Amino acid sequence: MATPSRRAVARALHAVFGRGERVPERWDQNLSGADAPLAQALLGICLRRWGAMGAWARPKLKDPRRGLPIGSQVALAIGLAQLGWLEGVAPHAAVNEAVDLAADAELGFPVHKGLVNALLRKAASDSAGLRAALEALADADRTEFMDWVLESALAPRHQEARAAEAWARLNQPPRPAFRVLRGDPPEGLEADPRVEGGWRLLSGAPWPLAWLREGSGMVQDASSQALMAFAWSERPTHILDACAAPGGKTTALSRRFPEASLTALERSPTRAARLRENLAARRVHATVVEAEAAAWMAQSQDAFDLILLDAPCSGTGTIQKHPELAWIGGDLDFRDLAKRQRALLEAAWPRLAPGGLLIYAVCSWLPEEGLTLREAFLRAHPEARPVPVWGAPFGLDGSPSSVFLPDPLTWEGEGFQAFALTR
Ligand SMILES: C[S@@+](CC[C@H](N)C(=O)[O-])C[C@H]1O[C@@H](n2cnc3c(N)ncnc32)[C@H](O)[C@@H]1O
Repeated sequence: MATPSRRAVARALHAVFGRGERVPERWDQNLSGADAPLAQALLGICLRRWGAMGAWARPKLKDPRRGLPIGSQVALAIGLAQLGWLEGVAPHAAVNEAVDLAADAELGFPVHKGLVNALLRKAASDSAGLRAALEALADADRTEFMDWVLESALAPRHQEARAAEAWARLNQPPRPAFRVLRGDPPEGLEADPRVEGGWRLLSGAPWPLAWLREGSGMVQDASSQALMAFAWSERPTHILDACAAPGGKTTALSRRFPEASLTALERSPTRAARLRENLAARRVHATVVEAEAAAWMAQSQDAFDLILLDAPCSGTGTIQKHPELAWIGGDLDFRDLAKRQRALLEAAWPRLAPGGLLIYAVCSWLPEEGLTLREAFLRAHPEARPVPVWGAPFGLDGSPSSVFLPDPLTWEGEGFQAFALTR
């Protein structure tokens, strides 16, 4: 029987490639000790190299056009990923576990047990050759959807010709980044030169789980940290975080403006519960309201002098953390997303006090979710004025800039588009 870590990876791959869903949020929560990092590494390889592994297997099938059922694809990928890239796994163990998965009625396609066995045994006899063959097929990992995303990410700086370079950077796991909230950082973190006050995990260091759980620190990507370092010298008294869970930016707002009252909206009940838990552990004082933000803002009479609208989006900027997006992102309803983003921005605008600051942000590279929305909003609202609050290297219209747009070729952090407005 395959180990819990391989079974968890198989379930996550079924969610993505079988059902077109994202990797479930807590897919690895029942794994313990060394199992969790192994499973995370294995899942990452399977998602990032799925195309190459499929392209490797297809010509070896009797009928390449028919392909393989999902259960066989998953078992084969889990075996190939270990043989090709995962160091420290004995080849016979990699093969046997993958064959067990293929034979599993829930997760595999038992009829193909023999085929999976034959393909993997042959591959295991020459791991270096396998790795070279898979690397030669790397183009198959870049989906059409990613071509579109890369073009969008590179177009603002006219760098479209460098898509291969950008993809080579983005099809890699991200380096985890943190903020220290109380006391000293735990062992295994080093100061992050990218952002002031930021920390990052040293290569090979253990995940600081206990430190995070007790709320002494939090995970926060370098782009979010840089975004929240917007240069604004006012002292707001009423702050609204309109889309708040899991609360990274709520935490940043509260630490920066401890005197202000902070209202945090979140629509999803489970995410609102997580937001409350996170804020309590971090000793952050905020009023959490479980509500749909556009409706809440439409009926509110309050004026806020700082509004953060970290809107729901395609998440294309988080491809390093969520590599499954390359495969399922094309099925997103972009029109619906853009409609919701516009509605949230329109609802937030009347809540902004004169002279206040509204920051709209999305972790996306698609202009429809950011820059295009900004242009349309500025056309429709002549009273809205851009505020230059971000310095190099994030600006697009000079430094300081009213637009936050990290360069995917030089900045090691998530893709974002943000803009700052006042009235
Ligand atoms: C991009 S995430 C926010 C991340 C958060 N600001 C942080 O830094 O930790 C967007 C959040 O908004 C929530 N959300 C989406 N649509 C919403 C809406 N219409 N009203 C309120 N919350 C919404 C989502 O459930 C999600 O938790």
